[in-house]
Amino acid sequence: MAGVNDIDILFGAAEIAARVDAIARAIAAAEPRDLLVVVILKGSFVFAADLVRALDRAGVDARVDFITLASYGTATESSGRVTVVHDLAEPVAGQPVLLIDDILESGRTLAFARDLLYGRGAPRVRTCVLLDKSARRLAPIEPDYVGFRIGNDFVVGYGLDLAHRFRGLPYIGVIRAVEK
Ligand code: IMP
Ligand code: MG
Repeated sequence: MAGVNDIDILFGAAEIAARVDAIARAIAAAEPRDLLVVVILKGSFVFAADLVRALDRAGVDARVDFITLASYGTATESSGRVTVVHDLAEPVAGQPVLLIDDILESGRTLAFARDLLYGRGAPRVRTCVLLDKSARRLAPIEPDYVGFRIGNDFVVGYGLDLAHRFRGLPYIGVIRAVEK
């Protein structure tokens, strides 16, 4: 386990669960029933797993597909150049899409994914992010559904990593010190 004392908890498991349920109800009220959920890996896998189950409780039996995107850079700063590491399994032409990402920061990753899906013929692409760091935005994109808005801190847990660590934490937190 990661050393709990080294991480300040921003959002606990119960708070996250309540927020995920609220987002799912908002999506169910506004989006078409034949929704394709496209999950941007890796960081979104925990959020997406909870969100699709919350969507089911809200009455939406969504199809799910995955795309792995990478923007290479340092551990805590992305480079701006987004590449497809693993592509979707299915075509998206004619399919309304809900795109899910973990954090919207510069916006380059989400803008890249949105433009890719529109380019492939998706008629409607809506976006849902767990966390929005809006102060860091560089690309012209705003999310349609947001879990929590946060400042500039680098956060981990609930799927989010720092150099591949901390994805399994049940909460979202800010690292104070990393144990080797
Ligand atoms: P963007 O392309 O600048 O919007 O970067 C978004 C991506 O950067 C996210 O999908 C995350 O993988 C990563 N990222 C940005 N901020 C954080 C953070 O605080 N913790 C973990 N990953 C982050
Ligand atoms: Mg990441």
